[in-house]
Parts: sequence; structure tokens; C-alpha cells
Amino acid sequence: MNKNSHYYKLILLLFCCLCFSNMKAQKTKKNSIENKIDSIISLLTLEEKVAMCHAQSKFSTPGVDRLGIPEIWMSDGPHGVRGEINWDDWGYANWTNDSITAFPALTCLAATFNPKLSKEYGISLGEEARYRKKDVLLGPGVNIYRTPLNGRNFEYMGEDPYLASKMVVPYIQGVQQNGVAACVKHFALNNQELWRNHINVEVSDRALYEIYLPAFKAAVIEGKVWSLMGAYNQFRGQHTTHNQILMNTILKEDWAFDGVVISDWGSAHNTNEAALNGLDIEMGTGTDGLTTSTKNTYDYYYLANPFLEKLKNNELSEDVLNDKVRRILRLMFRTNMNPNRSFGRMNNQEHLDVARKIAAEGIVLLKNENSFFPINPSKKITIAVIGENATKSMTVGGGSSELKAKNEISPLQGLKNKYKNATILYGLGYASGPSAYGRVIPSTIDADKLKNEAVALASKADIVLFFGGLNKNHQQDCEGGDRQEFELSFGQNELLNELLKVNNNVGVLLVSGNAVEIPWLDNVKALMQTWYLGSETGNAIADVISGDVNPSGKLPFSFPKKLNDNAAHSFGKLSYPGDSINQYYKEDILVGYRWHDTKKIKPLFAFGEGKSYTTFKLSDFKTDKKEYAQNEMITISGNVINTGEIDGAEVVQVYVGKSKSKVKRALKELKGFQKVTVLKGGTESVEILINTNDLSFYDETISDWNLEKGAYIIYVGNAANNITSKFKIAIK
Ligand code: BGC
Repeated sequence: MNKNSHYYKLILLLFCCLCFSNMKAQKTKKNSIENKIDSIISLLTLEEKVAMCHAQSKFSTPGVDRLGIPEIWMSDGPHGVRGEINWDDWGYANWTNDSITAFPALTCLAATFNPKLSKEYGISLGEEARYRKKDVLLGPGVNIYRTPLNGRNFEYMGEDPYLASKMVVPYIQGVQQNGVAACVKHFALNNQELWRNHINVEVSDRALYEIYLPAFKAAVIEGKVWSLMGAYNQFRGQHTTHNQILMNTILKEDWAFDGVVISDWGSAHNTNEAALNGLDIEMGTGTDGLTTSTKNTYDYYYLANPFLEKLKNNELSEDVLNDKVRRILRLMFRTNMNPNRSFGRMNNQEHLDVARKIAAEGIVLLKNENSFFPINPSKKITIAVIGENATKSMTVGGGSSELKAKNEISPLQGLKNKYKNATILYGLGYASGPSAYGRVIPSTIDADKLKNEAVALASKADIVLFFGGLNKNHQQDCEGGDRQEFELSFGQNELLNELLKVNNNVGVLLVSGNAVEIPWLDNVKALMQTWYLGSETGNAIADVISGDVNPSGKLPFSFPKKLNDNAAHSFGKLSYPGDSINQYYKEDILVGYRWHDTKKIKPLFAFGEGKSYTTFKLSDFKTDKKEYAQNEMITISGNVINTGEIDGAEVVQVYVGKSKSKVKRALKELKGFQKVTVLKGGTESVEILINTNDLSFYDETISDWNLEKGAYIIYVGNAANNITSKFKIAIK
């Protein structure tokens, strides 16, 4: 043995010792907390323990005052810290210190395809939650985008389980590093708002495990999320919030979740099930607002007096209660009983910068004929800005994700800030009426007058920028109701056609969290998907329109040409929205682009699609080998060349498909991606790793994952519909 190898062995030994002592220290810390929890439990009365398992107000649970055990304070979520709500009802408490930074909606975050930004989002949001003295932040949401009519898609991370998994983990880690628990929601299968309180979802195990659960699993296992929210709907005949299969078998046994399950507000329905099927904290039952009201309502909660009685007469074992209290105390040691947590901060420039960066990076350029965008800010031109969404606040409305933003720069304001040399004209064009929860209040403004005024402005302008789409009103991208139609409402299509008659230089900025029907696509010069962007909306949009930021966002869901091209809708009413009692996910695993690809139904815009002001070439992509074993890494590498005139970023997407499978398969599925910034004329190398185990399918015959042997195809491209290279590999 030579001297060197001896030396290395010594270093290795030292390193192992260090790791071991670190692991030991962590284990000891964990044990000491678990021991503390046991000793606290031994001091608590039955009544005190039961009280900890349910709300004392709209957004808090009681502590144990005689022992100094704190209350738990929660807040929505997921795009900022919601304004303070009254103790007993859904009204705002009118505090004057609760205005915050509004971050972009989660569809926008997903569209960045940039997990690093998700971490920044989580850290900043967690700091704001901490400053507002919140222990649990009710987000993120990762329900899969199944239908473009779902009113809450804007709060989620799109149609692909892999993308959502990669984006959700850093968000959670970022929030929780502030000593604030993230609460991933809504577990599970809450994929529509219509009949959400009772609709029973029937879905195969395969679709459940392959499509609807992976992002939750990543949140629990990789993100180590400290709390999780049940959903309103039922799954296989039982409410999801206390569902034996979801909560006990999958979450707490298979995934070994050690955190707290919180009900959605009013989603608990039965004491025995709540006690035995995994619910730890019951919130929102029987108070004013979303659910019906009872006097002294908190005592009547399923996990309050009825639970206490069953414990007292030994119908339910105290172990069941102790498990819940142990989880709740564990959450407290991670949050409000952690003496080392930071103090938080909010409304600072750094948070606004993060919000603006994410907003700009998530904007998706979908059409750009003759380089309509970017529009040079130094030009002395006349721009007609038309459309309600250029001025409507989008942090207001939408349901529980509504925010009290300290500032919100509208698109019109953002353009005025940026285009100092231009003459900017503004016309509302159409009006949707004020935002109200659960009901539509029609506008009283004369629609014809608005239209005529807008057309007159458009006829005088060099360029028309139309800001339309959906908004946060009921049935327009809002909790508690689905959209009623796939097309745009309030006469927007007709208005656009009129504008196009007087000016053919029209660019459309689509503000929405959902796909919409776009019949005028061929007639407009450009189209940008701009989501709901929060405090910095207008600045971020102006950054991209002006070219200060080169767009690099990619769609996190497909835009079908017509509603029936969407998988869930193509199977008729029983598939969506169901018969009001049951619904059947008949498209099974073929959700989103999986459906479009496999059934050869071209979408209008594909998953992963999004243009740049520069051009890229993906070149020399290859796999490191041709054959792989189980649990082996496949390395896919190649170059991204910026062939255009300005710096930009591209997202390399790797999809995998199985040829000749013994089970039905999607043509291809996203298994890896990487966003890379490339200077003009430059080349950057990219390496994407995929574990062969991640190519497994969920085999219902063995109730487990199964990695089929044989040939697979690897597809590399920059959108689901733009694959630039394909390779065959084999799994031995
Ligand atoms: C929503 C949740 C939200 C809760 C508290 C419910 O109606 O579904 O997402 O966190 O209210 O506001």
C-alpha cells in the first residue's frame, strides 16, 4: 500500500466519523424532541388534547395556556399571506398591518420550469408568513390540471406530475426554512370546483399513482412537508379528508408522513372516520360562510365533543388521540416552539424583486409574427391599450387565495412606466362586473359604448395591445365554481374582431390561469400568456414586452383547440363534471399532452411550448449508453446553441416512451428538464439524468411499481410537440 492511499483512507475515515457523528447528533436531537413530546402528552388532560385537534377560530387552534403551549395560527396561501380574517366568520378583520407582497400564481411559477425560482418564492413567502406570525401557510396546491374549466387551476402547477413534483419541493423547503410549515393541498383528486363538497371520484389505481399522487409524494418524501390538507371531494365512496386509503395507507403508512393532516375548511363529515382515518386537525366545519352555521360551533366539531365522548366511553382508544397530539406537538417544535426560528420580514424590495423575476420568467410567448414583440420603448408611437385586464386588480377575488397586496402595478401602469416616449391611450373595451365570492354580479356599464370607444382608440393607434382573458370573478378562475364556457366571456371575441377591422397590428396579452378558446389566433400578430402575476404584474409584463427580459416561460398545460379535444371532456358528462354524485376519470392516465400525443389530437398550443426573442438549436444530444439495468442512471447530454441576436434561456425537455409495452402507455412522458441561459451566439452544454426506476409503471396486478424490460424511446426537444432528437435505449 503506498503512502497516498493510506492518507486517503485516513481522510475517508475521518469524513465517515464526522458524518456519523452528525447523523448521531441529528438522531439524538430528534429523539430528544420525541421524548419531550411524550412528556408533554403525559401532562395533558383528555379535554386539552381533544381541543388541540380542532379549530378555536377561523384560522387558529388552541394552545394549552397553563403549560405555555402556543396556539397554531394558519393563513392562506398559496401566493402570499392572506389578509386577517375575523375570528368566527369569513369577513376581513380590517387590520391595518396585514398588506403584503403578492407573488405570481402557481401556474406562472410552474411555467418558469425553474426550480431555483421556486426556492426563492418559498423563502420570500415564508419570510412574509413568519413576519405575520403565521405557523402554517396553506399552500402550495398541486392538484393536476385535468380540465380547463376547473376554477382553481391557477393555484396549481399544471398537468404534468413530474413538473409539479420538481417545482413543489423547493417551494416547501423555502417556506419551511423560516420555521413556518407549508401545507400541501388538496389531497387528493380535487380537480374541479363544481360539486366539490361531495362529488365521488372514481379513478384507476394506475392513474391515481402515476398522475394524481406523484407531486404530493414528492412534497412529503423529498420536500418533507410538515402539514397536508385533505380535499373536499370523495374518493371511492369516502371523503378524502378522512379516507382510509389516501390518509392511512398511502400517506401515513407507505410514505411515512410524520406531519399533521389538516382538513379543508368544512371537509370533515364524520367523527369515527376523522378519528380513525388520519385527520389530525379539523378546521372550518359549521361556521358562517362556506358551510352552515351552528351556535358554539367549535364544540360541535367532529373532532370536538363527539370525539371526546367516544374517547370517554372507550369507543375510541386514547392512542388514536395521542397520535394526533404527537403530530401536532411535532409541528410546534418545528415552528412556534422552535426557539431558533427567524423573525421574518415583508414588503421589502427583495421580495418585490423575486416576484417580478418569477413573473417575467413565467410569461409565455405563444405567437410573434414578424417580431411584433419586443416593442422598443424609445419609439415615439401611439399604443392603444384595450381591455379590462389592463387595469383590473387580480390579487382581489379568486376565493381563498385572494390577497391584500400592499401595491399592485397594473399592466397599464407598467407600460406607462416603461414607455415614456410613447402616447398611451386606454379603453376598457368590455366590463365583467365586480368580483364577488360564489356569485356573478353583472356589469352595469353600457357594453356597446365601451366597445365603440375602444374601436375609436384602436383606429388612431400604431399598435393595439389587448389585455383580456379570464379574471378572478366567480366562474372566471375562482374557487367554488367552474368556468361555464371554454370561450372568453363578456363579448371579448367580438370586441377583438372589431378592433382587428380598424387596426391589423394587434398583440394579445392573455391574463388567465387556464386555457381558453382562441378563434382569432390567425388574425392577431402576437399572443402572450401572462397569468396572474401579483404585486409586480405591470412591471413584469412591460419587462417582457420591451425586451428587457427575453421570454423563456413554457406552458405547464396544453391548450386544446376545442373543449372536446381535452381528454376529460371527450368522454362526456360522466367524466366531467359527473352526474353530481359520481364522476369517472375515463381518460385514465392520458391526461393533458399524454392524451393529445397518444390520440394524435393536435393541441392549439402544446405542453412545454413557449417562444423566445432569440432562436435556439439543440444539438449533439445523446445517451451515455444503449443499455441500462434497474436503478441505473441514464445520462442524456447535448448542447444548446443560441443562434440568434440576443441572450436568452431555453428549457431542454426529455420525454420517455415505451414501445411495445404490455400495458397501455402514453406515447411519451416528461422525465427530465433543464433550463439553461445561453448568451447570443454561445453554446451551453446540458446534462439530464434519469433513473431507470422512474420509467416504471404502476402495475395494478401487483399493486406496485414495475419496470418493464425492453426498448424505450427517449425524446429530446423544447416542447411536447417539438422533438428534435430521438434515441432508442433498452432496459435489461
Ligand atoms: C380552500 C382552501 C383554503 C381554506 C382556508 C378552503 O375553502 O379550499 O384551499 O386553504 O378554504 O381558506
